[in-house]
Amino acid sequence: EFSNRIGVSPMCQYSATKGVPNDWHLVHLGSRAAGGAGCIIAEATAVLPEGRISPEDLGLWNDKQMEAFRRITSFIQEQGSVPGIQLAHAGKKASTYSAWKGKGWIPLENGGWQVMGPDNIPFDPSLGQPAQMSEEDIHHRVEAFVLAAERAEKAGFRFVELHMAHGYLLHSFLSPLMNSRQDDYGGSLQNRMRFPLLVAQRVRETVSFNLPVFVRISSTDWAEGGWDLRQSIEFCGHLKELGVDLIDCSSGGALPAANIPVAPGYQVQFSEAIRKEAGIKTAAVGLITGAKQAEEIVQKEQADLVLLGREMLRNPHWPLQAARELNATIDWPVQYLRAK
Ligand code: FNR
Repeated sequence: EFSNRIGVSPMCQYSATKGVPNDWHLVHLGSRAAGGAGCIIAEATAVLPEGRISPEDLGLWNDKQMEAFRRITSFIQEQGSVPGIQLAHAGKKASTYSAWKGKGWIPLENGGWQVMGPDNIPFDPSLGQPAQMSEEDIHHRVEAFVLAAERAEKAGFRFVELHMAHGYLLHSFLSPLMNSRQDDYGGSLQNRMRFPLLVAQRVRETVSFNLPVFVRISSTDWAEGGWDLRQSIEFCGHLKELGVDLIDCSSGGALPAANIPVAPGYQVQFSEAIRKEAGIKTAAVGLITGAKQAEEIVQKEQADLVLLGREMLRNPHWPLQAARELNATIDWPVQYLRAK
């Protein structure tokens, strides 16, 4: 149960060493919990070292990382918020310099690593040449997601989100633009969904019954011949049958340069359609910045949860201020009551 329907969208901080969270992650996530968000989704956290976007990504492939998350999850809960974490594998988009350190693939001699994906076609000429994954590679990654989900639960996270969006590993199997395989994992929609559905199924049957599982998808590739809303609705129907609780409806990422009509609330339409057509709870995200805008999305039943990204970086106390604007009640941290 969340105390309100505002959540912090997962946002990479590129600030970890060996995948271990540190003071930055505590302060970053913790201050947004103190700011009143109903839930906080920790950034894309790699299930294996090679699944990191950059060397500074968070990870959950070992117990040291798990232990270090504990004080973060307990602090978030002490603030009355619910901690969740996004579990990820970057696939073809792995081994890149983090945002402010450089651009493109990090060569092996500079500490980079071999990337992998459904086929050996690079995402973009500036990124690594992927190794095509074997069936054994696929099953190994399924189990890596399962082990990371188990660690997330032990670390005190109260829900997990599987990252199946933005051109990373699981989305790259779904999208015909990133997957040219001709075996059981490519070609037809059924084949392209196989690996992502296996991940959802194995995670769902392994973690506790009362640990919600969310999935972030790219609802569309915004490109002819790509993944689209129709396929998303079918995919989400299967996720629902497997016991997935909520679809976090993002978009894009399969192409280096798609033509995306970015505007306030531009992805809310996907949340609304998936919620209605697949009959599953959804989160809306993307250029949602105003209290009334967020409230309207919930009132019109276009989403069950509203996630904010960049606006939360600008203003960690957004939920406290939105409550005031909407004349709603929200618990302020007692330490801040004199400012209410
Ligand atoms: C992101 N985004 C993102 N998405 C995701 O699924 N996993 C991630 O780790 C990240 N990392 C990330 C870092 C930073 C700095 C930004 C700004 C964004 C995307 C993010 O969660 C959100 O979907 C988009 O930013 C759109 O929402 P806003 O920012 O318009 O509210």
